[in-house]
Amino acid sequence: MIAITINGQHREVEADPNMPLLWVIRDLLGLTGTKFGCGVAQCGACTVHLNGEAVRSCVTKISRAAGQRVTTIEGLSVNNDHPLQQAWAEMDVPQCGYCQSGQLMSAAVLLRENSNPTDQDIDDAMSGNICRCGTYPRIRAAIHQAARAQQEGAKP
Ligand code: FES
Repeated sequence: MIAITINGQHREVEADPNMPLLWVIRDLLGLTGTKFGCGVAQCGACTVHLNGEAVRSCVTKISRAAGQRVTTIEGLSVNNDHPLQQAWAEMDVPQCGYCQSGQLMSAAVLLRENSNPTDQDIDDAMSGNICRCGTYPRIRAAIHQAARAQQEGAKP
């Protein structure tokens, strides 16, 4: 048994230590907001937080997450009300939507570390998250909007 804290809840899973964290999240814990994209850490669709840092869960072994704190898109906020989620909805960022949970998880780390990112900061931080629908301009605009909202007092 491998214990992890996922979205604030203590869980134990029966898994091979080499199993990708993504499989555990989706198949063993039933949290399907995190997506399988490329499987080789090149697209960012599977991005989650491990102890607050963005990781590609498709190439992160569950053994690395043992005893650690994992956050998925389902745990980013209590009521889908993270400033980024609100900005995403207000600006209709998603197109097909497949990449968007990974985009949000990467953007959340960026905003936590840089409360007022420039376009360049955003492009640098988000460069590992591919969007085949090309929503990059809206992603950038939504991150700016969330940054403004956060500075005006919205809860991160
Ligand atoms: Fe379709 Fe990004 S919204 S891949």
